[in-house]
Amino acid sequence: MRRESLRATFERDGYVVVPGFVDDAAVTALRRRAEQIVAAYGEASGSRFSARAEAGWEPDREFLTSGYAVRCFFEEDAFDERGELRVARELAINKIGHALHELDPVFTAFSHDRRLDELARAFGMREPLVYQSTYIFKQPQIGGEVRWHQDATYFVTEPQSVLAFWFALEDADRENGCLWAAPGGHRGPLRERFVVDGTTARLERIDETPWPHHNEAVALECASGTLIAMHGLLPHASAPNRSPRSRHAFTLHAVDGTARYSPRNWLQRTDVPARGFADSYRDAAPPQGAPVR
Ligand code: FE2
Repeated sequence: MRRESLRATFERDGYVVVPGFVDDAAVTALRRRAEQIVAAYGEASGSRFSARAEAGWEPDREFLTSGYAVRCFFEEDAFDERGELRVARELAINKIGHALHELDPVFTAFSHDRRLDELARAFGMREPLVYQSTYIFKQPQIGGEVRWHQDATYFVTEPQSVLAFWFALEDADRENGCLWAAPGGHRGPLRERFVVDGTTARLERIDETPWPHHNEAVALECASGTLIAMHGLLPHASAPNRSPRSRHAFTLHAVDGTARYSPRNWLQRTDVPARGFADSYRDAAPPQGAPVR
């Protein structure tokens, strides 16, 4: 797709689907690396992630301090009533986050790609900076629902600027919990804001506009290797995965360095400045003592 038509599609729908963006070798490398990270990760810390409840999930310290770390978070449904894992540990992880793009060599090499910089600029960003990376497993049988949301809720900037790149590392379809989105929904308001005050965080409803009705949403079924770029205000969701197949994906979130980044966002890049998709590696190593777990 040409640059002009990419931008036109992005402005019309709030998302663009680019099949074949990631080649098979890169898909295999990312999946293998995620496996290694999980295998090397310490015993279950018990930190769980839920994107299901409107306000029922309270992020813990593990989560709130994971902006410059590589940590594993468990599926809510991975534990039984006694708190024991009901599935093998490697099938119990919901995601790895949130600085793979800076702290892990395989994910760093993948994330800093000139093509991503060009795409972000084609969508109107002036100074795209990579803020967050997440590996999402959407495990077989227990992969949790992700309720309707807008990514700008977690990256408040003035003006709005966050852009998501979502890379399918397996075929995604209705059975294993593909993305759903409401085309054109990015022209609506930001409905919620995730705000941190000190050590506590909360989700604030700031606009009562309802989430898209089921018949306004389309299933973004796609093949492994597909890139889906999403506007930060695009409402999107995914259903639980009750199928026997996983639905792995990797995501990157970028914000515009020319926009004002809210100091109340959970993820701050003050100690370690964010850099662009096309910037070369920093000369210096990450700061001493940067937590890798
Ligand atoms: Fe999202």
